[in-house]
Amino acid sequence: MNVPIVRDLAGLRALTRTWQRAGEVIGVVPTMGALHAGHLSLVEAAKARADRVIVTIFVNPKQFNNPEDLANYPRTEDEDARKLAPYGVDAVWVPDGDTMYPGGFATTVAVSGLTEVMDGVHRPGHFEGVATVVAKLFLQSQADLAFFGEKDFQQLQVVRRMAADLNIPIEVIGCPTVRESDGLAMSSRNLLLHEQARAAAPALHEQMQKMAEGIRQGKPIATLEAQARAQLEAVGFGPVEYLDLRSVDDLARLETADRPARLFAAAHLGGVRLIDNIAV
Ligand code: PAJ
Repeated sequence: MNVPIVRDLAGLRALTRTWQRAGEVIGVVPTMGALHAGHLSLVEAAKARADRVIVTIFVNPKQFNNPEDLANYPRTEDEDARKLAPYGVDAVWVPDGDTMYPGGFATTVAVSGLTEVMDGVHRPGHFEGVATVVAKLFLQSQADLAFFGEKDFQQLQVVRRMAADLNIPIEVIGCPTVRESDGLAMSSRNLLLHEQARAAAPALHEQMQKMAEGIRQGKPIATLEAQARAQLEAVGFGPVEYLDLRSVDDLARLETADRPARLFAAAHLGGVRLIDNIAV
């Protein structure tokens, strides 16, 4: 099956207008490409709930706080198209930089509160870039449903807040994290791990599970965190940016899991920044 790639906004609008007139429900799956089984699980979820599915591929420069990270980000459009082919998506929206941010572009969408912790602190400007591009993707796709991974849980909550605050008529649906068989959360950045780092990478999820188990047993979080950090550093991680227990709703830091909580981590390994989170 060939993949209907759309690169101009007028073309996308023509499609969405036809679908809306027919009363069809549109689902959107925003991505930056380098597609893996995590992304494809979102496409499957979208196919199950929407009449029409748009996958977007755009490596958004505004959300990269580190120019080297942007330059190194994997770009695999032909392979992405091959991976999407069996799913029968209705459009793959691949705008270029000038289509997304034409000369004179001057608007930023900033969400406060939720973006003042974790990746909001360690990646200044990141969530403004995400909120801005996702608001645009929502309006461009005219979607009724949007599918996001829990892998990027803070992003999921920021996007939910943004859509609600701006009255964008879209339902944001969170989907579970897809992992490699050794537990490593799938990520486009995993492609950048050299062999030794790739072998050490599953330790992040292992240590998080251990920490979550300790939290459930009522052990003090500071002790658990210190142990996990030491174990991660011993296998080559560094720096470990955060290993936090936080409330699901507002991402407030917790000492005990006395309400719905998740454990969040970000750590560098072999020059690659990995993030993960699990329910406690
Ligand atoms: P990207 O990192 O390509 O991820 C696209 C979507 O796939 C996000 O919703 C992300 O949470 C989800 N995803 C990534 N890895 C996953 C995994 N292992 N299991 C389940 N879902 C996974 O996130 C972005 O792009 C960008 O910030 C974007 C939202 C597209 C805005 O530019």
